[in-house]
Amino acid sequence: MTILYKADPERGLIWQAIFAERAPDLPFLIWPDIGDATAVRYLVAWQPPDNFLELLPNLQVVFSVGAGVDQFDLRLLPSHIPLVRMIEPSLAEGMVEYVVLSILATHRNLINYIGDQRRKQWKPIRLVPASRRRIGVMGLGVLGRSALDRLKTFGFPLMGWSRSQQVIEGVVCFSGSEQFRDFLSACDILVCLLPLTSETRGILNRHTFGAMPRGAALINVGRGAHLVESDLLDALECGQISSAILDVLSTEPLPENHAFWEHPGILITPHMAGMTQPETAAHVLLDNIRCHQTGEPIEGMVDANQGY
Ligand code: GLV
Repeated sequence: MTILYKADPERGLIWQAIFAERAPDLPFLIWPDIGDATAVRYLVAWQPPDNFLELLPNLQVVFSVGAGVDQFDLRLLPSHIPLVRMIEPSLAEGMVEYVVLSILATHRNLINYIGDQRRKQWKPIRLVPASRRRIGVMGLGVLGRSALDRLKTFGFPLMGWSRSQQVIEGVVCFSGSEQFRDFLSACDILVCLLPLTSETRGILNRHTFGAMPRGAALINVGRGAHLVESDLLDALECGQISSAILDVLSTEPLPENHAFWEHPGILITPHMAGMTQPETAAHVLLDNIRCHQTGEPIEGMVDANQGY
């Protein structure tokens, strides 16, 4: 009964060492070493191998190495093979840091100052108090809630939007398509932390930007495909959106000739906002495998109908 891991090979060695110590009964193989393919029961992957269902005929559970599961085609997964997303403390902590960093950078006009420095310009911008900068987070799962919780210390008015109605202390929660425009109209900084599904693909588009207050800002830490890139360029051009911080792009790495690289209103980072850390994630994975073996519920199970 083996585990097959297919993601960053360097971090794979750390996962492997933790499993060797804590679960010697579960050999942990790192792709492309698949050993006896019929012995693989658990696949832990960022990008799954092609045709992995045929390759691994006795597969029982698929685990995503990341919080997102959009790299798997849910329609192809048979119902007896559960898909599990990663919920682990270091990934969440990294995401919280990045969201706080980007909100503060946006709130304090850092993108303008980076440009001004290049041009040797000394131009202080009048400060807006946090109490007048409204933050809206789309997606109220583990990551969205953790980020909102940390943001409370700064005094920003906080809002959240999700598919189904949520209740979070200190956060005005909106839900569903009926309340989407009300939510957007009150967002000075919009953070996208949604899972990528057929319903959320392209959700950051001209209509969304148009419903926000003029000069609002965007932070995308969900998936590149949430954003209609040409709509963002248009919204920046006309001033409807003032700046964007993007950690995820529709094509990664961002192609060399892409307009975003040099755009004065855009700050790009290379999909590093939240990273699964093997030192903590290996224990979460092992606990989940043990739960599966004893028939207890697995944490992070994806609902195929919802897509996350
Ligand atoms: C990163 O994007 C993740 O899904 O964890």
